[in-house]
Amino acid sequence: MKIIMLGAPGAGKGTQAKMIADKYQIPHVSTGDIFRANIKNGTELGKKAKTYMDAGELVPDELTVDLLMDRISQPDCANGYVLDGFPRTIPQAECLEKALEERQEAVDFAIDVEVPDDSIIKRMSGRRACLNCGATYHIVHIPTKVEGICDRCGSPLVLRDDDRPETVKNRLAVYHQQTRPLIDFYSSRKVLHEVDGTQSMEKVFADIVKVLGE
Ligand code: AP5
Ligand code: MG
Repeated sequence: MKIIMLGAPGAGKGTQAKMIADKYQIPHVSTGDIFRANIKNGTELGKKAKTYMDAGELVPDELTVDLLMDRISQPDCANGYVLDGFPRTIPQAECLEKALEERQEAVDFAIDVEVPDDSIIKRMSGRRACLNCGATYHIVHIPTKVEGICDRCGSPLVLRDDDRPETVKNRLAVYHQQTRPLIDFYSSRKVLHEVDGTQSMEKVFADIVKVLGE
């Protein structure tokens, strides 16, 4: 099962992708998480990606596409995966489609988590992320047991550099301009399914399970 998560920054792609990965036993592949791990480890890729991410811009396709293709050719992706944050541009979607076609494969489901821009800005300022294990929380919707500490691995939580309100506004603008066209792209491939992302996380997930099957 090859699944793509679409939706604005903060729509809940990561939250839902983790639940999908758990239920269907497939890897959760997030380009954002891969970049953040590289930034944390001080790699060359991380240094390059950070300047774009902090400004709310997209990391150039040259740095993103090979990285993703390499990740999905690992053995754990043989039975499928859920992609979160990729593709984000039409050229990225075309590269993925071409690579899959070469293996007589295709994306099975593109799930679009719809949330209006004004709700997004409220959500992002409350998000807290663990840069060690990738877990995310929300100070109101998903609080941790001990404030500021990751439940899963005990590391301190941070407000992501790109979750400052000015940057969120730019990320939304970039989304509408560069990523939104993917809705038509996957609709024309007959794999697009829209879910209402303003509902509770459990309800959003239940709607996704209706699409993917039990
Ligand atoms: P990335 O990490 O992918 O960020 P994003 O798309 O901006 O999305 P987010 O991770 O911010 O949001 P999300 O939809 O995962 O929401 P979440 O589940 O956390 O990318 C970051 C940057 O990396 C990009 O800006 C770009 O620079 C670069 N990048 C990455 N991939 C790239 C690519 N392919 N090409 C080029 N550049 C790339 O939820 C948000 C918050 O809301 C959380 O606090 C959560 O707890 C809460 N929440 C979730 N669901 C609900 C709900 N139903 N009700 C209430 N609260 C909820
Ligand atoms: Mg995410």
